Amino acid sequence: MNSNLRIEKLILNNFRNHNYLKLDIKKNMVLIYGKNGSGKTSVLESISLFDSSNGFKALSLNETINFNYKGPLEMFGVNLSLKSLDSLSTVGLSLRKKNDMLRKVISIDGKLSRKTNPKILNVYSVFPKMTFLFQNSSEDRRGFLDQMISTTDKEHRKNLINYEKYKSERIKILKKWKNCNTEWLDAVEKKMVFYGMVICDCRRNFVKSLNHMLLNLESSLPYFQVKLNGKLDKLLLEKPSIQVEDFFFSSLRENRTRDSIIGRTSFSANKTDIIVYEKKSNKEAKSFSTGQQKTILFLMIFAFIKHLETISYERIIFLLDDVFSYLDDKFIYLVLEKLNELNVQIWMTDVKGDWIFRDKRYNKIVDKINIDDKRFKVS
Ligand SMILES: Nc1ncnc2c1ncn2[C@@H]1O[C@H](COP(=O)(O)OP(=O)(O)O)[C@@H](O)[C@H]1O
Ligand SMILES: [Mg+2]
Repeated sequence: MNSNLRIEKLILNNFRNHNYLKLDIKKNMVLIYGKNGSGKTSVLESISLFDSSNGFKALSLNETINFNYKGPLEMFGVNLSLKSLDSLSTVGLSLRKKNDMLRKVISIDGKLSRKTNPKILNVYSVFPKMTFLFQNSSEDRRGFLDQMISTTDKEHRKNLINYEKYKSERIKILKKWKNCNTEWLDAVEKKMVFYGMVICDCRRNFVKSLNHMLLNLESSLPYFQVKLNGKLDKLLLEKPSIQVEDFFFSSLRENRTRDSIIGRTSFSANKTDIIVYEKKSNKEAKSFSTGQQKTILFLMIFAFIKHLETISYERIIFLLDDVFSYLDDKFIYLVLEKLNELNVQIWMTDVKGDWIFRDKRYNKIVDKINIDDKRFKVS
């Protein structure tokens, strides 16, 4: 059963540029509009802090406190009222200082959670930077793929963290001991191979599903496909995974001397990239125009939405930050239609959002919040 978790109230205290902000939400689609710099992105960010896989570092937590605020930390925070199928709960996020470092503290229904990262919600976010996804680095594209996977599969995020942990441990050993401490290296490389193979497998299954969904989008839409472009991913198409595993293991071993000199991992499961291409012409997404690339990005998001409809997911919130500019109206309505089919609350931001006001249907089903409106800010 897919839960239609919904944020019904959001209160910010001294969070970024907001001294105080209170929003009451009734609908599944929310549009926050207002001038540049009015704090729209900050609102989405306050929500994403409740996602346990959010990678905010202690240093950047410090930057979420209003620069001008000099009072006690207790007066800083984000509070949400959450409604799921049959229950209402409140969650709060505050900061505590320990050994001069800031830590995130979550409370649920007024009680402090013992876990540092309790499962509150899973955020899937699309940021303006992603509209240049096909021009950006392979790391960004990999991140885009991994974010889609981790929205419903928290194990994937943990596997990625573990993989990176063993990868940097291996480099540390190589730097310190060169190629001498073979037993220790063997053990660490074994872990890398284990997590690396699980990650590759997970990405491969996800891309398979995504491609199936891309194939089954409306015929009026362009037909794109995705392929994984890492060496291990390619090998997995040709060989049984046990052989690929052996190959990975021996590559790591062979590269020890080289890696100890260059100080990084020459062959890694995380060197994968995704190639998105039009099936008919075989043309890659990056060679289309900027506007077309934005459309292609949304095709992938449509496919992701369709994928979500086929699996069971929980407590997902979509955050779409400023991603509608330069899309033609017709396509924006298509995006809204797809999003509306999904049983998920969607938070969108835009400078004007005039396309929503212009359309009778969406005008009705979208909660529209002018963030510059003083009514939301008086405490
Ligand atoms: N800790 C902070 N305290 C006060 N202002 C901040 C803080 N962090 C960022 N800002 C400022 O808040 C403003 C709102 O940013 P943002 O949420 O990105 O606005 P928008 O998305 O509406 O353009 C920006 O001018 C930014 O520089
Ligand atoms: Mg913004």
